[in-house]
Amino acid sequence: MEYRGYDSAGMTIKNSAGLATFKAVGKITELEKKISGKKLEGNLGIAHTRWATHGEPNEINAHPHLDAKGEVAIVHNGIIENYCALKDFLTKEGFKIISDTDSEIVAHLIQKFHNGSFSEAVVKALELIEGTFGLAIVQKDENRIIAARRGSPLVLGVGEGEMFVASDVSAVLDYTKKIVYLNDDELAVVEKDGYSVKNLKGKEVNKKVHEIKWTLDQIEKKGFKHFMLKEIFEQPEAVINTLRGRIKEGKIKLSLDLDLDSLKRVVIVACGTSWHSALIGKYLLEKIVGIPVEVDYASEFRYRDPLVGKNDLVIVISQSGETADTLAALKEAKAKGAKTFGIINVVGSTIAREVKTGIYLHAGPEIGVASTKAFTVQVVDLLLLALFWRQEKGLRPEKNIIRDLEALPEKIKEVLEQSDNIRKLAEKFVNCKNILYLGRGFNFPVALEGALKLKEISYIHAEGYPAAEMKHGPIALIDKDMPVMFIATRDSTYEKILSNMEEIRARGGEIIAIVSEEDKRISKLTKNVIKVPSVSPELMPIINAIPMQFFAYHVADLKGIDMDKPRNLAKSVTVE
Ligand code: AGP
Repeated sequence: MEYRGYDSAGMTIKNSAGLATFKAVGKITELEKKISGKKLEGNLGIAHTRWATHGEPNEINAHPHLDAKGEVAIVHNGIIENYCALKDFLTKEGFKIISDTDSEIVAHLIQKFHNGSFSEAVVKALELIEGTFGLAIVQKDENRIIAARRGSPLVLGVGEGEMFVASDVSAVLDYTKKIVYLNDDELAVVEKDGYSVKNLKGKEVNKKVHEIKWTLDQIEKKGFKHFMLKEIFEQPEAVINTLRGRIKEGKIKLSLDLDLDSLKRVVIVACGTSWHSALIGKYLLEKIVGIPVEVDYASEFRYRDPLVGKNDLVIVISQSGETADTLAALKEAKAKGAKTFGIINVVGSTIAREVKTGIYLHAGPEIGVASTKAFTVQVVDLLLLALFWRQEKGLRPEKNIIRDLEALPEKIKEVLEQSDNIRKLAEKFVNCKNILYLGRGFNFPVALEGALKLKEISYIHAEGYPAAEMKHGPIALIDKDMPVMFIATRDSTYEKILSNMEEIRARGGEIIAIVSEEDKRISKLTKNVIKVPSVSPELMPIINAIPMQFFAYHVADLKGIDMDKPRNLAKSVTVE
């Protein structure tokens, strides 16, 4: 679970003496150091790796949190929105709160209501809690774990004579592939030989056991130095997996539970890298289907009382399927009667189960915090949706694009051969403090994505802009210390981007350029050139994103940064 947060960790084991708890600040290795050499006894325990929301990363704020008597221990993922009121209530009742976290409240509430029935005490405590939670709870006299969820992901792993509770499947894949997904407001009582699930009103819930296809090996690094590099090199396979069964004899095959003719507008909502693919989705759907598309940050959409309704298709894009703002935006769209559609990677994730219909990426697990293969496959699936919709409208099929899509995995393999060349460029720019990324048309969102990749894993400040915007301000930043990354592959904006390059050169700016393999002109303007195979403009964002991923990866690696777990970030942002 460490890729989900890694600023502190802890665990509690139930043994003959009661509950034994160990905590440490930093990555899990620090906790391992702390317990190494200790004789640990017991066969029931809970553990947590933290991404701080309330209270700085330190041992007191690390989970598990216990009540004052040390009889109840909890680990929590989520945010308790009314924790101040509950803290005042408990303090007035004489309970002593020792940490700055919202989570600790839960342990005290359960202790307050514990009057013989552990699960009843948990239910009573949860009735008072507003906000989100994925909880695992133990009590010193009980040979069971109680798990409960609202808003944050939680799964059960059904093992042979052992049971697991986790925030996602990758934690238990080494032990079982039998997974039960908990839904909101469900509570599971888990014992070594089994489990039962009820909703918070006490009604039994029958749960389906899913068989997970992913292997642990898929989650291992396969000899690559980092998960991010492995996932960059997995893109041909990821594209093959997402195209499988979706293109047959030049026709797009998608089984969508959608009345496309009733739709008058599309609104795409997402966060971070998924928002960048959403922007490319706008360009693709407007060009190929001819339907108006708006793109919104989920965190803005959810609080803006959005004007969407029954003739609108709200598409949510999320690799993890657990991003809190995107989930809330989806619920907002559903409440407004809009049709909802998900482009999701993690099968069975909350957003995937919340949307009306959608497409799975089948990109496989993405462990590196910086999204790579999920981004390129999101763009492929947006293109498949656009081509399918055009087909359903009876419009002339885009044969060239479909042909290029089928040839895409091979084209990507050609780009992957550039890794060493790009590392040489990274060596040249590893010490720069700022970089601007510029592109036009389909390449503008790629510039945004390139800048985000560099920012999030190398900690170098970078900004992406539509190249023409430079003259309206940012060009003031240009001097010999401000390199500019141009995404300048050949399309209808090529001549314009060349003159933008001249403007930068005239002011002493150093240029790096992504160009089409047959380009002869740009290498006269700069020697920092990365050549990529030519494809239809609609596929260029997929091809051009990969040199961006490599550049950021190599700069971060040259700076000795563990870019699989960059500072201050988490793979899935399950809090708002
Ligand atoms: C991208 O590299 C980041 N990890 C982040 O911006 C991410 O794209 C964003 O948090 C959205 O995540 P999602 O696709 O899982 O919803």
